[in-house]
Amino acid sequence: MAGAGIGLTATACTREAGPPAGAPGPGAHAARRRQAGVTTPQQATALVMAYDLDPALAGTAGARELKAVLARWTRALADTQEAGGDGGTREAGGGSGARLTATLGIGPGLPDRLGLRAPDALRELPSFPGDRLDPARCGGDVLVQLCADSADATEATAATLTRLAGDALGPRWRQAGFLPPSDGGGAPRDLFGFRNGSANPTAEECERWVWSGDATYLVVRRVHLRVEDFARLAVPRQEEIVGRRRATGAPLDGGSEHDEVDPLAKDPQGRYTTPPRSHVRAVSPRLDDGARMLRRSYSYADGPTDQGLLFLAFMRDPALFARVQRRMAAQDDLAAFIQARGSAVAYVLPGAGPGRPLGAELLA
Ligand code: HEM
Repeated sequence: MAGAGIGLTATACTREAGPPAGAPGPGAHAARRRQAGVTTPQQATALVMAYDLDPALAGTAGARELKAVLARWTRALADTQEAGGDGGTREAGGGSGARLTATLGIGPGLPDRLGLRAPDALRELPSFPGDRLDPARCGGDVLVQLCADSADATEATAATLTRLAGDALGPRWRQAGFLPPSDGGGAPRDLFGFRNGSANPTAEECERWVWSGDATYLVVRRVHLRVEDFARLAVPRQEEIVGRRRATGAPLDGGSEHDEVDPLAKDPQGRYTTPPRSHVRAVSPRLDDGARMLRRSYSYADGPTDQGLLFLAFMRDPALFARVQRRMAAQDDLAAFIQARGSAVAYVLPGAGPGRPLGAELLA
């Protein structure tokens, strides 16, 4: 394993371009400061860490301690970040070339406890039918998504962050994830063997549906998959359940992987081309007035009977997740093969900048 000392190869922030040249509006020339690990192309591994603030801390004393930790984390992550240009995601690579990104967020319980104004859309997720949540794998005051091309890089960074957190933030839960080696481009395959992430929003759609200024929200779900039961189904039945082709990720009525599914399209005989109880129909953005989330999920395998999807999705309002998840519980045949066992939501802070560590706005 790479040294767990100061040898970080990470970045806490990304400097993304503002609106396209010529775009109207007061923000036209303002550089965006957004954290990496949201629109960044997926690296091979992920490690999501949840921390809790020391129960003895609250109010201004708690806010002061958290501010100090976030300042230490920002410095440690920035010290090693690779210089990046404007207009692209600033990813680390540093010495290891592992393209490590660190994405930090705060949980819904924290603002109240510290006497801070809560970000507008930050609240606990409701409970959903079919969940079997383990409290030890849920929640957290601070959430950190670490992604890199090697698990050594995420582990080393996690160890450094935990050390720098001192007594103020204690580890609550962690979940590692991985992607299979790429098989000819396209979205990575999940443990059901389907491409997962094909219908993600474009950069333009992310401006509208994922970012809220320089912030966003992250929903984490540790979803157990009944891999063997699903694998026993014939491929055409699997495709009916998912609503896309297994080999290519294309819609069932043709086209290619990134083509949109029209959930209401019918064949000449008047039958729906995408089954009414398929996953892509239940989760279709058309049922949410076009609202989108950016899914950036990984697989996990914690033993032969504990495998699944580390569902990670970014959106400008987690209420979207709740609406989509409720439809899945009610009208999605995939629901019989999956079960959420862990869950968390976080407000992903705006990125750091010169003289402005992570959390500067929140803790001002
Ligand atoms: C945990 C088990 C899950 C599996 C195995 C799974 C699998 C898939 C697959 C294979 C697709 C089609 C390809 C793609 O566009 O990515 C898809 C699409 C999608 N899934 Fe899931 N999914 C799961 C859970 C969820 C959950 C919990 C949500 C949100 C509540 C969700 C929301 C979506 C959305 C929004 C799409 C894109 C639909 C579209 O735009 O056409 N999925 N999923």
